[in-house]
Order: sequence, then structure tokens, then C-alpha cells
Amino acid sequence: MADYPDGFLWGVATSALQVEGVRGREPSVWDTFAARPGAIADGSTPAIACDSVTRIEDDLALLGDLGATAYRFSVSWPRVEASGLGYYDRLVDGLLARGVAPMATLFHWDTPQHVEDEGGWRSSATASLFAEYAGAVAAHLGDRVTHWVTINEPREVTMLGHALGVHAPGHHLGFDALPVAHELLRAHGLATRAIRAATVAGSAAIGLALSHSPVTAATDDEADRQAADLFDLLNHRLFADPILLGGYPAEIAELMPTTDLDAVAEPIDFLGLNYYNPTRVAAPGSEAATSTIDGVDVGGVGDALPFAFVPVEAPVTDLGWPIVPRGLADQLRILRERYPGALPPLIITENGAALADDRRRIAFLEDHLGALREAIAAGADVRGYLHWSLLDNWEWAEGFGPRFGLVAVDPLTQERTPKPSFAWLRDHIAAAVALRGRPPAP
Ligand code: BGC
Repeated sequence: MADYPDGFLWGVATSALQVEGVRGREPSVWDTFAARPGAIADGSTPAIACDSVTRIEDDLALLGDLGATAYRFSVSWPRVEASGLGYYDRLVDGLLARGVAPMATLFHWDTPQHVEDEGGWRSSATASLFAEYAGAVAAHLGDRVTHWVTINEPREVTMLGHALGVHAPGHHLGFDALPVAHELLRAHGLATRAIRAATVAGSAAIGLALSHSPVTAATDDEADRQAADLFDLLNHRLFADPILLGGYPAEIAELMPTTDLDAVAEPIDFLGLNYYNPTRVAAPGSEAATSTIDGVDVGGVGDALPFAFVPVEAPVTDLGWPIVPRGLADQLRILRERYPGALPPLIITENGAALADDRRRIAFLEDHLGALREAIAAGADVRGYLHWSLLDNWEWAEGFGPRFGLVAVDPLTQERTPKPSFAWLRDHIAAAVALRGRPPAP
């Protein structure tokens, strides 16, 4: 296994809202959204989630047993506001005691409800509030955190939360959600500066996590190709271009605000890539189109979109998402081709699948890590792989149904039981670390 670079980061990713539970924090937009009848598939709420806020020692023990060299968790803005950073102090110290590098995401979708009430990401005030919070967290944890992820997946917050309304805060703004993308990018840029100002230069790497995956046209027809390009533009280039190239793609620049574009383009130390599945796009009204996006039925809203979705021919996860390991290598190639000279080192900050049958997760891991090694051999500069996710957790609008975890969680007792895939990844990490070493001690 000579094919991972020296000191590669190995581990898992989680997010605060999906695992912590509500104790000790104020309400977030997801608590409010989950209370809407019909918003969450199984009618559940994130009130308990995996109770990680009380089960912290269990989670730390699991990370130790996995042999993880990094753990990507998220800091809950509404928890920090309500009860400070005590929980994260304990988490970070527990990680360091086990030789695990702490990678802290500062925003993984859980906007405090009172911030939303003042306009949330529709207001230009929120990015500054977020940067203040980011600076305060960095000032406190900056002596120990090795990697900062400012924002997780601004595209999902924009598209699912504000354009289509299928995620919190549940707005149906359609194309009027475009300024939300800009505010999230501003928040990333201003937070990057705030973290740099609050920490010792070079003490940590700063980046953000974008979900990117290959987009193909359903056919060679001009209309399908145009629809695929538009989808790629709105879902990928809209977010990555201003960060890596300093401006919005020409095709959309006129529609986008321009405030603080210099901050948005603040250099980052790594780009987090969340890879799930490729998308096949057709022109609206195409006969082969489905009414779902990545297996999620978006009801009537999909009909108003300027593109339609066509199933990718591949086995699917329990959520109906196609499993295409090759897509990870393809995406790494696309990024290098699209941003030559502008692409920082990459970390796979998420990759995983909703699978009740854990044997399929082992195959998923084997195949995706195989594709990753191929991409690295072909020249991709990838510095780590963080599997989504450690635990079966609260999967947003899908509730507790989908099983993304290497570890099962009993919904009544919260007892954690590692699955065979946990042992598989533990052995894979051990072999890779034996050959290539651990990352330098944090
Ligand atoms: C998100 C995670 C989520 C995962 C699976 C990513 O978009 O960052 O929070 O659980 O996908 O849906």
C-alpha cells in the first residue's frame, strides 16, 4: 500500500447537529424546521441525536480504537452562544491525548434560530456575526486545533435550504437564493481572516468543504449538454470559482453581489472535497427525468428547475444515490483540469453511504479508496480521507432512517456497537500508518 502519501490523515467526520443533542445549546434552524409537520421523513427531531454531548468518552474511545489520525467534528454556533466552549475543550483535549488531529468545522448548517430571525443568510449582517464567532472559537481552541473548516457545503445550504426549501430554514426562494451563496462565501472569507488573526501563523491549516461530483449530460443533444453545464455552473463553479479564481463565472457574474470578493478569495491551505455521487442531467421535460434529486423527492419544486435529473446507471444506496467509486477519481481530475495552478492540496472531508447492509459499506470503502489511490498515483495532491460517518446519526430531513455509520447507535440506550466496516477501516488505517507513518504530532 505504498500509494498514500506520508503522514496522510485518516479518520471520520461528523457534525454537531447530527450527533450532539440539544442539551446545553440554544435552538438552531434545524430544531424549528424539524417541528414542521412533514418536514422530516420519520417525524423525528435532533433533540437527542446520538447524545454525543454526554457520550463524549464513548466517542473518543471509538476514535482511539479506530486508530484515527484525524477527526472532523463541527462546533455548534448555538452551543457556543449558550454555554461556551467547554464541550469542545474536552473533545479536543481527548483527541490530542489519543494522537488524533482535531479538524473543526465552524458551520455545518446549524444557524442559531435568533440569527435566522434577523434574516439569517439572507442578510448581509450574518457573515460578520459568523466571522466574530469564528475568531472567538479560534482564539480559544487555536492552540490545539490543527485544521479549520469554515463552512460545510455552502451549495447545500443555498440550494436545499433556501432555493428549494427541503432543508432548514425551509425557504423557497428559487433563483432569488443566489445572494445566499454569496453571503456564505463572504462568511467563509471573513472567517478565514478572523481565524488567521486569532491564531499563530502556520499553527493550523484553514479551508472549507465543498461537495463536488462529476456532472454528465444524459445525451449528446445540445439541450441536454446545456442543462448539464448550467447544473455544474450553479452547483460547483458558483462556489469554487470565487474562492480559487477570485470571481464568479462570467456566465453568472452579473447576477451576483460583489462585496468582499477579495476576502472570499483569501488563500486557503486546503480544499475539503465531499464526494458522494455523480449526477446525470437532461433538459427540463426530458422523458427519462425523475422527480428526485439524489434520491430525495423534491415534490413539485423540481419541475420549475432549468434542468432535470436522469438516473445514473449504477447500484444505489438506501437513499437511492448511485455508487460510483470512479467518480471520486474523475472529480479529482476535473478539479485539477479546471483550476490549474490555483488548486490547494485536497482533503476528502466526507465520503460515505447510507447502507443498512454493512457488507456493502466494506465494498464501498474498498472501491472508493482504490479510486483514491489511483487518483493519487495520477498526480492528485490529496492529504487525507475522512469517512462519513463515525455513527449512525440524524440524517437531516431523512431523520434516523439512513445508516451512514461505521458504528450502530441504539436509538433507546444510545449504546454504540462497531460494525464490521469499522474493523475493516481500522485495519486499513493500521496498514497505511505502518507503511507511511502518522501525520506530524499536532
Ligand atoms: C453533509 C452531511 C450529510 C451527508 C450525507 C453531506 O452533504 O455534509 O452532513 O449527513 O452529506 O447526506
